[in-house]
Amino acid sequence: MRLSLRFLIPLAIALGAIAYGVVPLVDELTLKWFVRDLDIRKNLIASAVQEPLVELLTDNARDRVRLQRVQALFTRILQDERLFALGFCDGAGKLVYRTPFLPAEVTCRPPDAPAEEAGRVLQPPRGALHVGATPVVAEGRRLGELLIVHDMSFVERRSADTKKYIVYLFAAIGAVIALITVVIAELSFRGWMAGIKALIRGQSLALSPEPKSRELRPIARDLEAMVRELEGERRMRDESQISWTPENLRAILREDLKGDEILIVSNREPYIHVRKDGRVEVQRPASGLVTAMEPVMRACSGTWIAHGSGSADRDAVDAQDHIMVPPEKPAYRIRRVWLTKEEEAGYYYGFANEGLWPLCHIAHTRPVFRASDWEHYRTVNQRFAQAVVQESHTENPIVLVQDYHFALLPRMIRERLPQATIITFWHIPWTNPEAFGVCPWRTELLEGLLGSSIIGFHTQVHCNNFFDTVDRTLEARVDRETSSIHFGGNPTEVRRYPISIEWPPAPLAAQPSVPECRAAVRSALGLGAEVRLGIGVDRMDYTKGILERFAAVERLLELEPHWIGRFAFIQIAAPSRSSIEEYQSLDARVRAAAMRINARFGSKGYEPIVLKVEHHDANHVYTHYRASDVCFVSSLHDGMNLVAKEFVAARDDERGVLVLSQFTGAARELSEALIVNPYDTEQCAAALLAALTMPPDEQRHRMRSMRSLIQEFNVYRWAGRMLLDAARMRNRRRVSGPRDAAKVIDLRRA
Ligand code: F6P
Repeated sequence: MRLSLRFLIPLAIALGAIAYGVVPLVDELTLKWFVRDLDIRKNLIASAVQEPLVELLTDNARDRVRLQRVQALFTRILQDERLFALGFCDGAGKLVYRTPFLPAEVTCRPPDAPAEEAGRVLQPPRGALHVGATPVVAEGRRLGELLIVHDMSFVERRSADTKKYIVYLFAAIGAVIALITVVIAELSFRGWMAGIKALIRGQSLALSPEPKSRELRPIARDLEAMVRELEGERRMRDESQISWTPENLRAILREDLKGDEILIVSNREPYIHVRKDGRVEVQRPASGLVTAMEPVMRACSGTWIAHGSGSADRDAVDAQDHIMVPPEKPAYRIRRVWLTKEEEAGYYYGFANEGLWPLCHIAHTRPVFRASDWEHYRTVNQRFAQAVVQESHTENPIVLVQDYHFALLPRMIRERLPQATIITFWHIPWTNPEAFGVCPWRTELLEGLLGSSIIGFHTQVHCNNFFDTVDRTLEARVDRETSSIHFGGNPTEVRRYPISIEWPPAPLAAQPSVPECRAAVRSALGLGAEVRLGIGVDRMDYTKGILERFAAVERLLELEPHWIGRFAFIQIAAPSRSSIEEYQSLDARVRAAAMRINARFGSKGYEPIVLKVEHHDANHVYTHYRASDVCFVSSLHDGMNLVAKEFVAARDDERGVLVLSQFTGAARELSEALIVNPYDTEQCAAALLAALTMPPDEQRHRMRSMRSLIQEFNVYRWAGRMLLDAARMRNRRRVSGPRDAAKVIDLRRA
């Protein structure tokens, strides 16, 4: 009501002021009109009286008789109620005939006064009078002037009435405007308040359709931007205050997610059971995804659903295809999904790794799309959706979908578990819309992904590419300001979550000192103490730039021959996707390049390139990181590249130099590395030389800075930020509920 009064009081004042100004104007105007009417009347009376009066004035009657006759004529004319009095002035300007009520103020005009067009208005104390003087003429001779006096009291009466009506009219207009204003303001206000409350509770405007009325949109946007900014600031404050450890991640799950159920889905399983020489062995795959997710799962428990790809996997599981891991200290369980050889060939090797992998990486390998692979990809995604439903004990679990193997899965899960919070993380780059556009099933892939509640990428560039691709491909509402996309009735937030590694890394605990590691590696390779070491660790993949790396080593030895015999580069290349032709050919070319360079610069007991195409466990890899002077990551394109982060994490001695491709996500965070373009062999060779000759202080300075960054932005923070975002989303739903949210939307539409 107080708010309404703010409208009503100024409105009443304004209308009162207008009425106050209008009344005299109307008064003046109506007076003019009445005077004009009386002038016309006066003329009419004068012309009607003219003839009989002239007759009376010019006959030969005696004065007394004439007086009586003129009086009788005047009395007849005075029957008209508005006519107040009449008089006649003779040619000398003397009043000779008059009716009894002719006021004393009405006098004759001088005989030579010009004829008057309009009458005069007199204001004697008893009321206004209109006085008109009309010449009386007989045969061209002026006999005198007829004075016609009209009572104007009726004008005053009417004017008073008019004033009253004007005041009533303005009061009525004011009341109607006030009523309409108050009702509309009240309704709009309620809608706004509901919207504002929803925003403050965290119900984003972006997550619901825009308000229909145009004038509300800018307000809604400003408000949303403000709330987001505050939310972002608060989140950053909160997050920077958390020290990210497994314990804190568990606390988030307990407190923010209230112990909600967590399921992870990935193609690659974290532990593979393989049969070797008649014995079952447990292996950890060479996978960035596994490196990142495994410590998170150890902290969170829950279920990890993955393809059971090991030769002894079936023997290790229980009747529900479950197995608790890690073997040494079980903390979470794996649910294995079985695929036929054909399904694996079509879905994994075919569509995922011959289609999507080269499609998303700009590494100049042509993607291959086969309809049969696509069919398998769809079927396998369905199979995993079924597994998610089977494993889920609630109707609203948090499902973390991992990577390009499962682009269709989010929507499939959404259809079966509409209340689920689905976070999809795309571990590889997202390319630009032109490149993505060559995929015949681009629409289906995007529609599938947009079943997610949140889609995560490593970098903002990948998020932007995704927005552009959706914009170009689907009829969806892409809102870059709020980083969200509306498609098919559900909103998806698109966010940057740069992946990382655990801190401190588990394999570091078992490592000997750096000199011991160095001595061990040198002795294993038969190298002398004078030989400095470089290291590269990758899956054997054409995106990793292994050939480019070798070219740089070769160029270094060409340009700086004194390093021959004093520098060896160890390349650990885990065999990967080896049934794909492109990978077989890469394997052959990498081996050939190593042989050629070794033949060129090697000598007895010394090979400049030590190529190890085999699987190495994490402990072994960490020993090599610690033994090396330089780690060279030369990916042609890479979502993040965790090898770069692992190398830095392994160097608790704050020594060693990282040479890092500018085309990795990691290059955006590790700016103290020597950043190179792997296509530029000269630059890479120069970077290797700079690394080998870098003073210890500079190494320490760079390493310290990178280490503190990785320590702070570790994998627990990566997972924690996603889970906190999921918690916020779920909280919004809990607070406002789906029906409430719908109400807010309706009110905003109103
Ligand atoms: O980079 C994407 C990714 O899934 C990584 O997480 C991992 O390093 C690699 O691909 C694993 O490949 P695959 O599972 O085919 O061996």
